[in-house]
Amino acid sequence: MACKRGALIVLEGVDKAGKTTQCKKLVQALQQSGRPAEMMRFPDRTTTIGQLISAYLEKKSDLEDHTVHLLFSANRWELVPQMRKKLEQGITLVVDRYAFSGVAFTSAKQGFCLDWCMKPDVGLPKPDLVIFLQLSPAEATLRGQFGEERYGTSVFQRAVQQRFEQLMKEPSVNWQVIRLSEH
Ligand code: TMP
Repeated sequence: MACKRGALIVLEGVDKAGKTTQCKKLVQALQQSGRPAEMMRFPDRTTTIGQLISAYLEKKSDLEDHTVHLLFSANRWELVPQMRKKLEQGITLVVDRYAFSGVAFTSAKQGFCLDWCMKPDVGLPKPDLVIFLQLSPAEATLRGQFGEERYGTSVFQRAVQQRFEQLMKEPSVNWQVIRLSEH
């Protein structure tokens, strides 16, 4: 008997919104309800491409902006065969960041438009659901370890948030926004 395809669920949001914690909880909840589920994250820093990205994020190396954008996309593409296989096996994938982060972060830089940023990811497996954890950049700065990696400034995160808001207007994507508050 053919098994049912797993769902592709993506969590997105600005840095420190709590995506990783919520991804883990969601995987646990799915597993407890008897549905096979696994977590993935992008960037996946374990691959050769991922290690280049990680060094860049940790400010141990510099990369030209277009180049690093394409590396982030290549990091997703290199995992597509694995993702498709798992989905076909009926495993639900809960993914911590995906192409939306790629577009939102690069297009928040000077001289990049959404259109150019979206092109390298065209054709990736389409998520069934994208959960956006909305936290104000001001509240994000209060959270632990904010600002240690590249992109960790509230000015940049505000620009990223605006780009995400533009992306959320795309009706072909099933966005669900969850508003978070410290208070
Ligand atoms: P994280 O490993 O803590 O989620 O952080 C990854 C950082 O990389 C975060 O600042 C968002 C950024 N990023 C991009 O710029 N492009 C991408 O395609 C992805 C997935 C993340």
